[in-house]
Amino acid sequence: MQTVVSGIRPTGNLHLGNYFGAMQNFVKMQETDNCYFFIADYHSLTTHPTPADLHGNVKQVLVEYLACGLDPEKSTLYLQSDIPETAELYLFLNMNAYQGELERCTSFKDKIRSQPENVNAGLLTYPTLMAADIIIHKAHKVPVGKDQEQHLEMTRTFANRFNRMYKADYFPEPVAYNFGENLIKIPGLDGSTKMGKSEGEGNAIFLFDTPEAIRKKVMKAVTDSGPTEPNQAKPQAIENLFNLMKALSEQETLQFYEDSYNACAIRYGDMKKQLAEDVIRFTTPFRERILELLKDDVYLGKVVKMGRDKAHESAAKTIKEVREIIGFKSF
Ligand code: TRP
Repeated sequence: MQTVVSGIRPTGNLHLGNYFGAMQNFVKMQETDNCYFFIADYHSLTTHPTPADLHGNVKQVLVEYLACGLDPEKSTLYLQSDIPETAELYLFLNMNAYQGELERCTSFKDKIRSQPENVNAGLLTYPTLMAADIIIHKAHKVPVGKDQEQHLEMTRTFANRFNRMYKADYFPEPVAYNFGENLIKIPGLDGSTKMGKSEGEGNAIFLFDTPEAIRKKVMKAVTDSGPTEPNQAKPQAIENLFNLMKALSEQETLQFYEDSYNACAIRYGDMKKQLAEDVIRFTTPFRERILELLKDDVYLGKVVKMGRDKAHESAAKTIKEVREIIGFKSF
C-alpha cells in the first residue's frame, strides 16, 4: 500500500472548485491508500495570525473537511503542530538546505514582492518544512496542484541529499499525484475559467455560503446580451454557467437551457435562478453538517486525538531512525 501525504492550509472556506477538485479525490484515496491529511498550522504562522484567528481557522477547515467526507477512521487526519517530530526533521533538513536554492523558489520570490514588510525565515524555509511534512511519513505520493510542484521537486532534492550524505537508502522519492482526468474543473462566476478564492469577490461559491449569499452571487454572474444566431458558439462566461449546470443540475435542466440557447430563446435570468437553486440544493447538506460539527467540540477533540496518535506513531519511528542515521546515539 502506498503512503499519501497532503497538507491543508488553514485559510478560507472550501468552495465548489475545491470540492470537485482535490476533495472528492481525497475522499476516494482514503479507500485505497495509507493517507495522512494534516492541517498546516505551523506553516500558517508565517502570516502572524492572532491566537484566536489561528484556532478559529484550524477548526473551520477541520470541520469543513470532515463535512466533505474525510473519515478519521480511514485516514490519519491530524494537526501539523501536534507532531513536533516534524519540527525536528525540519531542523535537520535545514542544515542541508542552501540559501541559494531557497531564495530561487518561486513562491518565496512572490512573497518578497507581495509582502516586503514580512520576509521572515519561515517563508524562506517553507519548502524544508513542507519536505519534513512529507518525508516524516516516508510518503510515496503527494496530491498537489501545479503551484506546488516546485516545492515537491525540492522535497525530492532534500530527501535524496539526506540519503546520499548518510549513504542510507532511507527516504523514498515522493511524486506529485495528479488527478488528471478525474478532475472536474469548476469555473468561476466572473467569467474566469477557474473558481478560486484569490480570484476576487463574487467568483467563488463556498460550501458554507448561506442560500441568500448564493442567490446573490449567482444572479450577479457575468453574462452577455444573448446569442443572435442559432447554435452559436458560447463565449467563455456563458460556457462557464453551462459547465456549472453540468456539474450541479439535472440532465434535463441542462438540456432545456442548451436547447433554449441554440434556439436564441434563452433567458439568462431564468437560467441563473435555476442554477442558484440547484447550487443551494447541493451545498445545503454540507452547510448543515458544518454547522453541526462546529458545535461539537467533544467529537472534534476525539478526531484530533485519534489523528495525533496515528501520526505520532509513524513520525516517532522515522525520527528515531533518522537520529540514529545522523549519529545521535546514546552512550
Ligand atoms: N504548501 C501547501 C499549499 O500551499 C500546503 C502544504 C504544506 C502541503 N505541507 C504540505 C501540501 C505537504 C502537501 C504536502 O497548499
